[in-house]
Amino acid sequence: MSSTTETKRANLSWGGRFAEGPSAIMQAINASIGFDRKLWRQDIRGSLAHAAMLRHVGILSAEEEGAIREGLAAIAARIEAGDFPWEEALEDIHMNVEARLTEAIGEAGKRLHTARSRNDQVATDLRLWVRDAIDGLAAQVEDCMRALVARAEEHAATVMPGFTHLQPAQPTTLGHHLLAYVEMLSRDRGRLLDCRARLNESPLGAAAMCGTGFPIDRHMTARALGFERPMRNSLDAVASRDFAMEFLAACAICATHLSRFAEEVVLWTNPYFGFVRLSDAFTTGSSIMPQKRNPDAAELVRAKTGRINGALLGLLTVMKGLALTYAKDMQEDKEGIFDAAESLALCLAATAGMVRDMRPDAARMRAAAGAGFSTATDLADWLVRELRLPFRDAHHVTGRLVARAEAKGCDLAGLSLEEMRAEDPRIHEGVFSVLTVEASVASRTSYGGTAPENVRRMAAEWRERLA
Ligand code: ARG
Repeated sequence: MSSTTETKRANLSWGGRFAEGPSAIMQAINASIGFDRKLWRQDIRGSLAHAAMLRHVGILSAEEEGAIREGLAAIAARIEAGDFPWEEALEDIHMNVEARLTEAIGEAGKRLHTARSRNDQVATDLRLWVRDAIDGLAAQVEDCMRALVARAEEHAATVMPGFTHLQPAQPTTLGHHLLAYVEMLSRDRGRLLDCRARLNESPLGAAAMCGTGFPIDRHMTARALGFERPMRNSLDAVASRDFAMEFLAACAICATHLSRFAEEVVLWTNPYFGFVRLSDAFTTGSSIMPQKRNPDAAELVRAKTGRINGALLGLLTVMKGLALTYAKDMQEDKEGIFDAAESLALCLAATAGMVRDMRPDAARMRAAAGAGFSTATDLADWLVRELRLPFRDAHHVTGRLVARAEAKGCDLAGLSLEEMRAEDPRIHEGVFSVLTVEASVASRTSYGGTAPENVRRMAAEWRERLA
């Protein structure tokens, strides 16, 4: 990249009316090539489609279009090889490519920008980039779901404590818990794909903002770029970034789900919980405390949500209050989008990795599941079923039994029948059968409930759907 201090010549692309070049500061704040070069594939793809269309409608000759095609292929090869001479003075990806093209093929290169503006060009490039990013992320979400489903099937009957308020609530199974994340991720995938369907329209040919008097064929370029149709309104085409907001919103929600799971991994791997263990592959040590095994990957998945949410908020803030149509403010859309997509990709990979890596400790989880009077709801339900107590009364009787057990220092099953009968004389031996964690989870057969048979069926359904 050339230095910010040297440039004094007027800009080659738009400098006709300018006697001098921009100040170094102007160039530094204006240039986007440092980050928007990421759009090079999309930019070249868009130019190829545009040139083919210009030839089709007779604006370019076959020779000119052929030269453009070859010139762009050569540029793509140079970029790929890492020896493209990016120039900050040329501002952005569009002008860097066009300037080199013209340098290489002459006159025909200068004709490429007929009936096109950087305004519709950048909107096209960015839609193509986000569309590719969605395809990659959706595939990664599916991979993460597959990892969770496999572990869920394996642990359909592995009892663990379920929490509300992070206090012991009811016994559940690890399989059921993991499948909850599969459901969340499937909606995340749906949100990404909804966004893809909505963004898949072509801005190309809107030109600066009002369209063009040249006899262009916007349907042809739309088709060539895999868009469903050209966008209907040229002002909307160059001014709107809601597709990017929607993408970032979908990313932020997905990251939030991954962050909640990451927090659970942090808790579960804490020795006080000891529910799962991560191998050396997904943990780090401490430089001073030799005993440490830290769940850094989970912590970073938890933390990266911040920058993804930040990208969403950043773009919403950039766009609010912008009068139609394009404003240079919109150049600030890109870094957040790139960073959010990359961060989410990393989070998804790390999560899938941790899910496959973790070794659950079934004995620890079972013991914890039985603590904290976690089958109190089962006892209350038994009083309703067997003694026909109204649930509210059953709740009170159970509450008093919990207090008795707490005073005695035992769990509910540790109370004698006499102690139980002191609260309601009709209680009989049968009550003890509902007080184990296994009985508790097995009983919850309502649709979507935690019973291992349900979990096994749901996991198998997901496995087939994701195959
Ligand atoms: N680099 C610019 C961007 O990212 C491209 C569009 C420039 N358009 C303009 N009218 N200056 O938004």
